[in-house]
Amino acid sequence: MTSPSPAATSLPDGGEPSYYQRHIFFCLNQRENGEAACAQHAAQAAFDHCKAKVRALGLAGAGQVRVNKAGCLDRCAAGPVAVVYPEAVWYTYVDQQDIDEIVESHLKNGRVVERLLTPAGVGR
Ligand code: FES
Repeated sequence: MTSPSPAATSLPDGGEPSYYQRHIFFCLNQRENGEAACAQHAAQAAFDHCKAKVRALGLAGAGQVRVNKAGCLDRCAAGPVAVVYPEAVWYTYVDQQDIDEIVESHLKNGRVVERLLTPAGVGR
């Protein structure tokens, strides 16, 4: 096990340092039975674009941002979805411009992109 780098940030409550400042998870779930799934909405392309954008902006790595794949996040009816921690902000995106905005505004500058918020209460 490795220790967080010195660049890792601390939590506001003074708890253990977080290895990443922000973590975004993209649902890439596929289904063969015809039920809604994020993979039907170009989720893989959005994930790939986000990862490349975060790298290009120099935001990737310890103390900064991590972009991760996820399975079903159980909010399929609002898909494609991604969620950003530690804020636990859910996004429903449409295209790569939406991903660019999430990266620039939220992942880089900590400002939530209100227009892309997943509607409250929408689940599977
Ligand atoms: S398939 Fe994406 S949230 Fe369930």
